[in-house]
Amino acid sequence: MIAGKSVLLIIGGGIAAYKAHELVRLLKTRGIRVLIIMTQAAEQFVTPLSLASLSGEKVHTALFNLTDEVEMGHIQLSRAADLVVVAPATADLMAKMANGLANDLATTALLATDKPVLIAPAMNVRMWRHPATVTNAQALKNRGIAFVGPDEGEMACGEFGPGRMSEPVEILNKIISMLQPQALPLSGKKVVVTAGPTREPIDPVRFISNYSSGKQGYAIARAAAKLGADTVLVSGPVALAPPAGIRVIGVESAREMLTACEAELPADIAIFTAAVADWRVAEQETDKIKKSNGSSLQLSLVENPDILATITSHQLRPEVVVGFAAETQNIHVHALEKLNKKRCDFIVANDVSRGTGVFGGDMNAVHFISRSGIESWPAMSKDEVGLMLMERLAGHLIPEGRPSS
Ligand code: PMT
Repeated sequence: MIAGKSVLLIIGGGIAAYKAHELVRLLKTRGIRVLIIMTQAAEQFVTPLSLASLSGEKVHTALFNLTDEVEMGHIQLSRAADLVVVAPATADLMAKMANGLANDLATTALLATDKPVLIAPAMNVRMWRHPATVTNAQALKNRGIAFVGPDEGEMACGEFGPGRMSEPVEILNKIISMLQPQALPLSGKKVVVTAGPTREPIDPVRFISNYSSGKQGYAIARAAAKLGADTVLVSGPVALAPPAGIRVIGVESAREMLTACEAELPADIAIFTAAVADWRVAEQETDKIKKSNGSSLQLSLVENPDILATITSHQLRPEVVVGFAAETQNIHVHALEKLNKKRCDFIVANDVSRGTGVFGGDMNAVHFISRSGIESWPAMSKDEVGLMLMERLAGHLIPEGRPSS
């Protein structure tokens, strides 16, 4: 039961502090009690009064407040809740947490708490990528602090990249999965999804690629996150917005995609939806290739590594590995060949013949193939395919060992 649990929400001083209102509202609708501490900087962005109205509780701001100490001392406050959530967690708050500083009520409570802590970082992309923040984040992770986000996207300062605080609904999902580990089917599980095409450069201005838009892969990643998974999306170049609450790793070539996937192991489930270019040019030209009077051009191609096959034979092979098969004829036969050759647990096959509109479209009609049979799912939206697939895969995760499909 989530209702009746309590959260201590520590609000740091950043523009994302305005999202705390929505987070408090969402928590309250689930029957969760919300105690609040605001840093002095947070008061520049939101007021204690508005948060007190939403939470129905006194909002705590100062360390040396005699009334507060009589009502609920700061040590007691740090332990009164089932979970401590820091949102937004600024670079400054993270640095103080990593180094054990306790010079205000927020940091004192964080140092004194004996409860699990979840942080939602929010800062400028350069601050997030600064070696000092990278070291602090790693130190906090090593200490068992849970993270949600940051997301990638346009920031209040106009720059683009990772650093945006996760949306309140994503923070809520993470809070629910921490308060009640069995609440969502994929809570506590890590899912890696590949999406989009790869680009294999020919020269500085040309490349080999394909028509994949990334829509199917992004839909699968959204579904995984919705079911509570810690979701990583390894994406080729696409024109889609990064989904909220999902870590997106942007890559260009097949070799970059393989490196990114290997770096994300161990994972519980991996789904390879990307349309990876099978070949790349043997020698990429450093200068633009010039036309010469109607003469033809010969490109010599070499095979790219097979990402799916590499991951299924990896020593950190995920418990469930799913490949996709994009076919234009003999769909079942070719998909079954891929299932066996690439040693995955399931293949999702789709017909990408011209006219089906699967490449780039919003709908898909897939065949879910395992060693025990073939199921043809009716045409549905790519979001529905994603959800149906993730619900099915969640049922195949077993506590120990390999799935028994
Ligand atoms: O992106 P959309 O516009 O939404 O379109 C969705 C889609 C058609 C791209 C998607 O549904 C799909 O079918 N993805 C797989 C495309 C593909 O490359 O299929 P394939 O049959 O060539 O490859 C089989 C499997 O091996 C795939 O899981 C692929 O990711 C993987 N592979 C292929 C080559 C390679 N070098 N490494 C790989 O891992």
